[in-house]
Amino acid sequence: MPADHDPRQNTRPLGRTGIHVLPLGIGTNKWRRADRGAVSETYRTIRDAGPCMIDTAEIYFSERVVGDCLRAGPTRAVIASKFLPLPGRTSPRRLISALDGSLARLGLKSIDLYYVHYPLPLIDVGVFAGGLVEMVKSGKARAVGVANFNADQMHRIADQLARAGVPLAANQVNYSLLRRAAETNGVLEACRELDVALVAYFPLGSGRLTLPSDGPGTRTLLTCLSDIARAHDASISQVALNWLLARDSHVIPIPGATKPPHARANLDALDWHLSETEFDAIDRASARMGT
Ligand SMILES: NC(=O)c1ccc[n+]([C@@H]2O[C@H](COP(=O)([O-])OP(=O)(O)OC[C@H]3O[C@@H](n4cnc5c(N)ncnc54)[C@H](OP(=O)(O)O)[C@@H]3O)[C@@H](O)[C@H]2O)c1
Repeated sequence: MPADHDPRQNTRPLGRTGIHVLPLGIGTNKWRRADRGAVSETYRTIRDAGPCMIDTAEIYFSERVVGDCLRAGPTRAVIASKFLPLPGRTSPRRLISALDGSLARLGLKSIDLYYVHYPLPLIDVGVFAGGLVEMVKSGKARAVGVANFNADQMHRIADQLARAGVPLAANQVNYSLLRRAAETNGVLEACRELDVALVAYFPLGSGRLTLPSDGPGTRTLLTCLSDIARAHDASISQVALNWLLARDSHVIPIPGATKPPHARANLDALDWHLSETEFDAIDRASARMGT
């Protein structure tokens, strides 16, 4: 377990932006199609928990659903959305007008964190820097980030933003016990070097890390998670999230949840932590799968 992990800390920074969030956020890409009553209740579950990051995006069509929740009253939640990049949709003007659309759907005057959803093939990531800088300088975004960027792309955009005095807040990537590429492809290392948050999407492997059994490929890992969950009177998903939190203090998982008990259980994972022995056992069980 890394030495800098402090299980007692109750927020994590979004890089050097000065914004602090709960170590676990919530993903909303399924909120549009989910039962509206359950989603409203899910939102109420996290609303008063502290600065819980609510993750949405232009492309999820859930911004309006999140906006309806936000319109119900004041919240301590931290709102993040994402710009959908397309060839020909990279200029500062296009980024700002996309952000204006997100703000209107969310019912906000400014957003806490606005990401570029992914890099475009054959287009230098630097094209996005001008728009990202402008949205921070104009006050329409408190902070800016990227998603699905590799380490080299992270360094390039962070460098361009830094020249304008804007810190890169986060890189949002697919990271879980089933997919640990961020540990070997340089992304986690770049997050440490640049002091950028690694926001982990699919932290529960799209639900595969919530079930006691998922087929032969994951049996060893899920058995290990189940044993540790039993010892803590906890769930497999709570163990999986706690492992990510213990792996590195830059990691902020955003498990998706459309049901209130799921959102509550995920936040409850913050009330306890894994022992070093448990962390190592999960590490080995996950590594043995070759992931
Ligand atoms: N940047 C990107 O390119 C990108 C790509 C994909 C996703 N994302 C973001 O990442 C978020 C997370 O991804 P995801 O939701 O697809 O995958 P996930 O978080 O790995 O898994 C979500 C699934 O786990 C279930 N679940 C959550 N908490 C649970 C609990 N405590 N007990 C049992 N089941 C539980 C959910 O069920 P219920 O829905 O029934 O509650 C849902 O089926 C998305 O919402 C989105 O915001 C970003």
